Amino acid sequence: MAQFESRSWRKRLYLLLGILLLCSTICWIGVRGDEEEHETDAVGQQEEEEYDDDDEDEEDNDDDDDDRETVADHMEELRRVVGLQFPMLEDTDDPSLAARKVSQHLASEGLHQRLETIFSKTKTAECRAKIAEHLSYFVNAIALEQNLPFSDLTFSNECGEPVYMWDDLPEDMHPGMIQNRTYQPPRNETEYLDDPADLKLCYGILTHDNPDATIRLIEALYEPGHVFVVHVDGKEEFESTQHALEAYAAKHEYVHILQHPNRVRVNWGGFSMVNATLQMLQYSLAVDDTTREPLEFHKFVHLSSSSYPLASNSEIRIQLASYPLDANFLNIVMQPIRPGHHAWHYFVECDDSLHRIYQLPALASSTSNADMFTSSQWFIISRDFAEYLATPEPGSFVHDYLTYIEHVVVADETFFGTVLRHTSFCHQHHNRNFLHLQFDRWESELPAGLRDERKCPMPNPDHCGRSPTIMTIDYADILELSGELFARKFDDTIDPHVKDIIDDWRIKRENQIQSGMRPNDFRPKSMDFEGHGVLIVAKETVNDETPLCLGLGPTGNAMRLTPCFHDYIVPSLSEEWETGAVIQEETPLHLRWQVSPCTSDGDLKRTPSGLINVTKGAYSTTGPRCMLKQIDGLRAGRCFDGQQLSLQPGGDIQVYPCVQQWFQFVSFGDGEHAPIGSLYSIIPSHIVQQIQNLGHAQSPYMCFGVRGRGSQDEMDWADETTQDDTASNKTEDAAILPLSNWKGEQLITTQCSNKDAVIEWVFVPYIVEETSKDGATEKTMTNIDGEEKSTIVNSSDEEKGEGSPVKDGNNNPTSNDNKSDDHNEL
Ligand SMILES: *[C@@H]1O[C@H](CO)[C@@H](O)[C@H](O)[C@H]1NC(C)=O
Ligand SMILES: *[C@@H]1O[C@H](CO)[C@@H](O)[C@H](O)[C@H]1NC(C)=O
Ligand SMILES: *[C@@H]1O[C@H](CO)[C@@H](O)[C@H](O)[C@H]1NC(C)=O
Ligand SMILES: *[C@@H]1O[C@H](CO)[C@@H](O)[C@H](O)[C@H]1NC(C)=O
Ligand SMILES: *[C@@H]1O[C@H](CO)[C@@H](O)[C@H](O)[C@H]1NC(C)=O
Ligand SMILES: *[C@@H]1O[C@H](CO)[C@@H](O)[C@H](O)[C@H]1NC(C)=O
Ligand SMILES: *[C@@H]1O[C@H](CO)[C@@H](O)[C@H](O)[C@H]1NC(C)=O
Repeated sequence: MAQFESRSWRKRLYLLLGILLLCSTICWIGVRGDEEEHETDAVGQQEEEEYDDDDEDEEDNDDDDDDRETVADHMEELRRVVGLQFPMLEDTDDPSLAARKVSQHLASEGLHQRLETIFSKTKTAECRAKIAEHLSYFVNAIALEQNLPFSDLTFSNECGEPVYMWDDLPEDMHPGMIQNRTYQPPRNETEYLDDPADLKLCYGILTHDNPDATIRLIEALYEPGHVFVVHVDGKEEFESTQHALEAYAAKHEYVHILQHPNRVRVNWGGFSMVNATLQMLQYSLAVDDTTREPLEFHKFVHLSSSSYPLASNSEIRIQLASYPLDANFLNIVMQPIRPGHHAWHYFVECDDSLHRIYQLPALASSTSNADMFTSSQWFIISRDFAEYLATPEPGSFVHDYLTYIEHVVVADETFFGTVLRHTSFCHQHHNRNFLHLQFDRWESELPAGLRDERKCPMPNPDHCGRSPTIMTIDYADILELSGELFARKFDDTIDPHVKDIIDDWRIKRENQIQSGMRPNDFRPKSMDFEGHGVLIVAKETVNDETPLCLGLGPTGNAMRLTPCFHDYIVPSLSEEWETGAVIQEETPLHLRWQVSPCTSDGDLKRTPSGLINVTKGAYSTTGPRCMLKQIDGLRAGRCFDGQQLSLQPGGDIQVYPCVQQWFQFVSFGDGEHAPIGSLYSIIPSHIVQQIQNLGHAQSPYMCFGVRGRGSQDEMDWADETTQDDTASNKTEDAAILPLSNWKGEQLITTQCSNKDAVIEWVFVPYIVEETSKDGATEKTMTNIDGEEKSTIVNSSDEEKGEGSPVKDGNNNPTSNDNKSDDHNEL
């Protein structure tokens, strides 16, 4: 195997992550793969970071302000830029003439150059006039000693809810609590639809090319009662899309295609993107159009033609109708953005381009009574909020904010959420948009020549946007488990099949609902291990003095190889205990896992010997994938997480809040992709590709292993700091050391081919003790020395019923006096 420049690689990963985090504070970074669409994911990624309360954080790449200069440099730079000695003043005594000479000189040097640069991207006199006008606002502000544009505005704020900065929270709060804003009051307290079947949706779809994708989307979503409004980018090159969709709409009265002049020429990151959405809202509500009735709908669903539904139509209705009629589903980063002056600019949009003019004051409650929030432009909103957006009344927040946002990049990420959070609609905000997407393509990752420069519009050429991952068949499993109603982005030219797979399960689920099942009845599958969780044991240590299990330390998120049992339990273990079952009190906390949810394609079964037998599915050659969740102790509810950016060999394995992204799924070794008994992660092909592009070999399958054992695969990637003498000495011997030497050690990802490092696991279900028939509850257990021992049982446990252990699902009490027998039960 090649020796990698591991350090720089890992550093690079951290750097990327740093930028990713920064992205949620500087909202213009958060971008899309084509000119029509971009957004922030922000929330998922951010939550993950912010929940991370006790592990070391990635380097904070605060490159917003790291180009700070010294005062001397600063003065030097000022003089250089002006570059002027004003010799022309020497031969004039007339102040007025002197003034004229100086202003002409200034205009002929810096100003002229600047305008020439800006104008090089323009085509029309009209656009140049517009740029000149806006640049004059700034130049004149200085000349006339006035405030720069937008520097002294105040806005009305009708929300009234407190606003928090993550690093300045009250003691008892954490970002997750604020981010996880829900709106689902009791049914008797606000208006709900009684019957989800009555829910009428207006789907607003932005598109530019590939009319077939829009038609497929409409056909997938159509049910009587729903309507569709489509905006096709107004540029000439998309006329064929427009015509194809008009022809389709002519035969389907519920489909409406916007016409000129309501079609907007859409530019990446510009206000035109917001405007296109506003045009659809205005059309739906027949604003300024007395020739039509407004469309009938309860909710407006904003999608792009590269979206596709994951849930069946009934599921969509049932889900949305489980919230009040006035609920607004927007995904907003609830911490205001506070961009520095290097990162926030005033733009003018014309001639299909964005033209950067000057720094723009960012809004903040302290100065302008308003804060800016990053949000996704894909949302589902109430009819009332749609009306508010579509008809900006003078004096309203949206009316004023529109004049500001027109000059902001990326406007669409900074518009809808900010408006919502400053109006009374903020009280009906559910902070989730039911859209799955993942961002792991950054324009700045690409070499300068290959970038889409529209996505790097800032003075710093490395400040670029990022693009959502194209969903291919690789992601079918992830999409199935996402729990969302919609996903993007799809590209039929890259993978036409993944939608067929989705259609299969949508149809299956729809039929199930029609036959009376509720959505919760059939999604998703799980390995339930008798329903009480599972102990995951390193097979090699089963007969050791201290069997080792997949667990956590007493604190922290790191997944470790920890002792499976309390000390006093071990001597009583029977032969082949691993094929039996355990009860909760026998194991320390943080060892009880739930293997759920799992994807439905293929099958997983526990064999009598405790291994998992994998059956391939129709499209999942590796069998089902599952999430692995802690169900006890401090970290209950957290999921296995392979840390998106460090899934390379040597990456730490942890638990984090569950975000349903690929790095939180495990697969089970089938002997083909990974050794039987192993747990592994599948790395999506585009990430593998990214790594290979950097000159590294990368397997798509990464197993759970330990550091320093087995061949050198993972050492190739480990930080150089660990490759000192001790490490290499250890490595050579370590290949043959028993696994017990790794007791308490952090687990890492390792190549599945690294046989000795890869751990094989057996799965031992937990069973639960129940209160015995006569109601007596045992509070003590006799430990192996015959001492009466106060067990883990305490009052809260008692309520669940502790006492004689029983075989689960079989009311057959066994003695509690000698625990050893219990281990053989199943
Ligand atoms: C978010 O809030 C809801 C309801 O308040 C709760 O059920 C859910 O567990 C919370 N989720 C997280 C991740 O905190
Ligand atoms: C709604 O019903 C719940 C019980 O289901 C009750 O506690 C609550 O007070 C009711 N609220 C109103 C406004 O009637
Ligand atoms: C928004 O689009 C409409 C319709 O094309 C256009 O008339 C209007 O000028 C646009 N607004 C802005 C601020 O560009
Ligand atoms: C695994 O499952 C397959 C099919 O369900 C079965 O034929 C095979 O015998 C099983 N293997 C073991 C070891 O249980
Ligand atoms: C290196 O290995 C030898 C035995 O192989 C052992 O005695 C020695 O302690 C090891 N050195 C270190 C630094 O681990
Ligand atoms: C008993 O339960 C309380 C609260 O649930 C917990 O703080 C305490 O640690 C438990 N005691 C034992 C011995 O588990
Ligand atoms: C378990 O306890 C029963 C009765 O209490 C006793 O007869 C039996 O020998 C014990 N078994 C073991 C393995 O200690």
